[in-house]
Amino acid sequence: MSVIAVVGAQWGDEGKGRVVDYLARDADLVVRYGGGNNAGHTVVNPHGQFKLHLIPSGIFHPSTRNLLGNGVVINPPALVRELDDLAGAGFDCGNLFISDRAHVVLPHHILIDQLEERERGVARLGTTSRGIGPAFVDKVARRGIRIVELVDPTVFRNRLEGALRRARRVVEGYFGAGGAGDELADAIGSALDLERVSAEYLAAGERLRPLVVDGQALVDDALSSNAHILLEGQLGTMRDLDWGIYPYVTSSSPIPGGASLGAGLPAVRIDRVLGVAKAYTTAVGAGPLPTELTDAAGDALRERGAEYGTSTGRPRRCGWYDAVAVRFSVRLAGYSGIALTKLDVLDGLDTIRVCTAYRDPVSGDEWATVPAATSVYERLQPVYEDLPGWRTDTTACRSWDELPAAARAYVERVEGLAEVPITHVSVGPERTQMILRDGASEAPSAPRAARDVQVGTA
Ligand code: IMP
Repeated sequence: MSVIAVVGAQWGDEGKGRVVDYLARDADLVVRYGGGNNAGHTVVNPHGQFKLHLIPSGIFHPSTRNLLGNGVVINPPALVRELDDLAGAGFDCGNLFISDRAHVVLPHHILIDQLEERERGVARLGTTSRGIGPAFVDKVARRGIRIVELVDPTVFRNRLEGALRRARRVVEGYFGAGGAGDELADAIGSALDLERVSAEYLAAGERLRPLVVDGQALVDDALSSNAHILLEGQLGTMRDLDWGIYPYVTSSSPIPGGASLGAGLPAVRIDRVLGVAKAYTTAVGAGPLPTELTDAAGDALRERGAEYGTSTGRPRRCGWYDAVAVRFSVRLAGYSGIALTKLDVLDGLDTIRVCTAYRDPVSGDEWATVPAATSVYERLQPVYEDLPGWRTDTTACRSWDELPAAARAYVERVEGLAEVPITHVSVGPERTQMILRDGASEAPSAPRAARDVQVGTA
């Protein structure tokens, strides 16, 4: 038995869903531990292509149980829609469970997310407008509504009434929103309509009730029976509430510290952490991104990598691999291995750049890590090392040895800079397009001997 956390090592969208889908065939339980339907996990498997927002990526393996952990915030109608979509594709989701302690995202959370972004103007964060931040704010302010209350109609109705009374004061009083000509007037009317919201949410609660469990008991049971458990992260270190580029962060903790909390298991029971990093960098939303390419090279990466947000459809910002950001993530997450995804997207390039440090154009200082001050991070410039491209299609490669020598050298250089073994390399979205490095077990194991890892000097 083992407990493995799968964690994003960059700005999110690293391909955690495809990695969990791949690893889940051996898993008894997959637990989503944070975020909400701001997530977008694209999974391609023999059943088709699926875009998951809330439901854990182990759902396609009927013998794998999937839990939405207590650390997740759940939009019940959105979850019902996701269940309906999967039912349409032939999955009854009888293997899905929901923690009774997870919090509920309400329509006024979505509204307040939009109003806050509107108020920020040009300084907006570029949130997904899914109400995630405001739902976590209510959780921390100790006024959130949990799933255990959603499935009790009397309790839910009372709690909702109180929540809407407060939301109305915030929307009208603080934001001064909803007046004549306000483009959000209809959305405000609808989000604050007690009868409408109550009917919609109670209907969703009715649908979800059979799936609601004591999540901790489910996890504990799995631990006691020596089950193989995967903890599925959302987003990545650079958007972590504590460690990301504040305030351009989400409102939960994608790093493994968040996994213990949001899944409901002792931190010491996590055996291994598999980091997931893309072979280049992408981000959606605002904030500094030192290796961003705003030219044709960036457009080419976006088109070749189909880099459009799974949740919002927004074009992702694309750039070269940032080894400083990944090394920062390595230190916080303690990866025993890294899955490097989308290597094939780099196939056609003559030269591939890797950022090995940052340089401050004002002080001339070189940075080997991520500064706390976002105003400093904003002005840092990448220091690049150029590596030769391989100009060969790798999508048909199924083993390490089949990869072109320059592609292997690229992976080895990235590995050396991360100081963590790259155990998996993906060359396409299909389950079969995952290459397991020699010496790596199917699931990531303890680090290979240090001598096997070439450590970079930058
Ligand atoms: P929020 O989580 O919607 O509040 O957004 C906070 C930041 O995280 C914004 O920059 C979003 O674009 C980003 N973000 C949220 N969810 C995802 C995701 O699943 N993939 C990539 N970026 C995300």
